[in-house]
Amino acid sequence: MSHLERLPRKRAYLMCPPEHFTVEYAINPWMDTTVAVDAGQALKQWESLRATLIDLGHVVHVLDARPGLPDMVYSANGAFSVDGTVYGARFRYPQRADEALAHRAFYDTAGSWRFVAPEHVNEGEGDFAYLPAAYGGIVLAGYGFRTDPAAHAEAQEVLGRPVISLRLIDPAFYHLDTALAALDDRHVTYYPEAFSPASRRVLAQLFPDAVLADRADAEAFGLNLVSDGRHVILNTDAIGMGRKVRDAGYQPVHVDLSELKRGGGSVKCAVAELRP
Ligand code: ARG
Repeated sequence: MSHLERLPRKRAYLMCPPEHFTVEYAINPWMDTTVAVDAGQALKQWESLRATLIDLGHVVHVLDARPGLPDMVYSANGAFSVDGTVYGARFRYPQRADEALAHRAFYDTAGSWRFVAPEHVNEGEGDFAYLPAAYGGIVLAGYGFRTDPAAHAEAQEVLGRPVISLRLIDPAFYHLDTALAALDDRHVTYYPEAFSPASRRVLAQLFPDAVLADRADAEAFGLNLVSDGRHVILNTDAIGMGRKVRDAGYQPVHVDLSELKRGGGSVKCAVAELRP
């Protein structure tokens, strides 16, 4: 495929500063409550991620951080929007439950979104990805650790797009966005071993030309990337992944997000895409 085809599309994102970021509970294997977080460093790194997205021409909305919600910096988990409809989140763990309210308040006041409150547990873009140009527009959805598979059917009813359920099997890759990413409107990259054998077959059937990642890429949070269709923003540890996306014709842009990794997330976790 010609590299000239990798065209960026202007995006709108929602981010939340890590003003109250700590690791005071452990709900994924990356979180270690005995190691202190460097709050100043976290904020600096977050600012440089935001500046990177803005410099690339994108719009970044900011959600105010709320005290008592230390994971709120992972704004991807707060909702999932497709074509102006927002499917709200419902968090698996009580510690994060109120984040859904903050996100809802954002959509209720910003623009003309149709917000649908969920009945089933789901963690927004943590477990949902949208590919507008694949098969006419499909949703990929993860389950196994956080999102309830019942939410996949609910999302399909709310959004009117086919939802493909994929089972995650490795606790280190507990959200879909730690194991798979959209590189543009139709192409993905993923780490096959994070998925059940049957889900691997589904992915191979749907995406025969996917960029395949290995365990080192996934452990470096290399799949936890944000792409505008040309520029692929990923963290500085993800060297191998940067090389793979470059070989596929994209332009890697590395940012240091070492502090956010302590909570079990990286670039994608900190960035929700708004699809009006
Ligand atoms: N500490 C957060 C949690 O375990 C990290 C969330 C990461 N977000 C993501 N989109 N994968 O819920």
